[in-house]
Amino acid sequence: MALKITVIGTGYLGATHAAAMAELGFEVLGLDVVPEKIEMLSAGRVPMYEPGLEELLAKHVAGIEGSSGRLRFTTSWEEVGAFGDVHFVCVNTPQKHGEYACDMSYVDAAFASLAGVVRDGALVVGKSTVPVGSAERLAELLPEGVELAWNPEFLREGFAVDDTLHPDRIVVGVRGERAEKTLREVYAVPVGEGSPFVVTDFPTAELVKTAANSFLATKISFINAMAEVCEAAGGDVAKLAEAIGHDDRIGAKFLRAGIGFGGGCLPKDIRAFMARAGELGADQALTFLREIDSINMRRRGQMVEMAREALGGSTFLGRRVAVLGATFKPDSDDVRDSPALNVAGQIHLQGGQVTVYDPKGMDNARKVFPTLGYASSALEAVRGADVVLHLTEWREFRELDPAELAAVASARVVLDGRNALDGERWRAAGWTYRAMGRPTA
Ligand code: UDX
Repeated sequence: MALKITVIGTGYLGATHAAAMAELGFEVLGLDVVPEKIEMLSAGRVPMYEPGLEELLAKHVAGIEGSSGRLRFTTSWEEVGAFGDVHFVCVNTPQKHGEYACDMSYVDAAFASLAGVVRDGALVVGKSTVPVGSAERLAELLPEGVELAWNPEFLREGFAVDDTLHPDRIVVGVRGERAEKTLREVYAVPVGEGSPFVVTDFPTAELVKTAANSFLATKISFINAMAEVCEAAGGDVAKLAEAIGHDDRIGAKFLRAGIGFGGGCLPKDIRAFMARAGELGADQALTFLREIDSINMRRRGQMVEMAREALGGSTFLGRRVAVLGATFKPDSDDVRDSPALNVAGQIHLQGGQVTVYDPKGMDNARKVFPTLGYASSALEAVRGADVVLHLTEWREFRELDPAELAAVASARVVLDGRNALDGERWRAAGWTYRAMGRPTA
């Protein structure tokens, strides 16, 4: 009989994982403690913007016409315990308020609830990003006869469905052969096809995730540090990135200089990693991550200064600033630790009249920063602006007509905080185009 799967927590990770498991042919039950989320998902609607996810839900959620009916959602732990052979724990681990360490309360609560209902012989699989050592502790909470495995998830927002169905690798931390066998069965076809399957112990599996995110953060801050040097020396960081990226050992990806990384993962993961290393007495090994973090945060301030300079160098008071982009990256509505929103907020707090437009992030941005101005289109945001800041590289912004915008802007100055616009096109339409880490013109 095919394994029955539950997914606990229905955020970006859980909702996508549940839909992907149903796509693979499993019967799936998703649980969340927030009833509104369960209501939405049960109607085939996604509580956040993630390309392709709504279509996948419609294909499988029970009760939707023409669906496979393999995917259901609930708030009942009893139902989850009785249903599942394999339970994937996908709850989030945000940064603790005012601290570097991550907040394990959602994971702890999920394990405590699950422990009370899980069937003998079931497998619990942790997917949340946790401090190394957590799996060993959490295994103790489960009843005898219930095994634990740790199976970190590497999905990117905006590509969550594709990353889940076609992962670069599957990593599982196990203590026994039974857990490995079950997970090989879950990931057999077609997810496993062509994806390396790495079997290891608990701590290594937990560390793979934090190490991978630390490496990615390091790559971005490295190129941003080079951008700072280019700015001082008159070099061009985009050319530099292209040239070093041709070396296979370096690779071209994740070398786009700009206002740096944000989101719900990279910033909090490197901080939690430093905090955990401190507890383990290995803090010296990770002091470089402090520098990675500070290079990253510095970029936001540098963008603010670039805008101030473009406005004549002194004050933002009474000046109109158009901000294109609010989310931490394109193809997502996520504004958590968004560099774009942070820059917009800093300028606003210094007296600038900021108007933001984002294709998908407006509702979330308004919740976080209700006092900013918001426009219903890029054109409306740019109307009357003294300077335009391009801060999230949505395709929609690359496809804008600079001539049309030039006709409504008060001054034709555009600052590209993502190195993603076609500078020549903007210059040809009469704009002064400046990008971070590149010569003025
Ligand atoms: C990241 C990891 O990529 C993923 O594997 C992990 O599971 C979760 O964290 P995500 O947060 O969705 O995924 O975003 P990602 O695409 O990695 O981008 C992170 C940030 O880095 C964004 O703010 C992006 O704009 C920025 N970035 C990325 C750059 O500034 N330059 C780059 O070259 C690449």
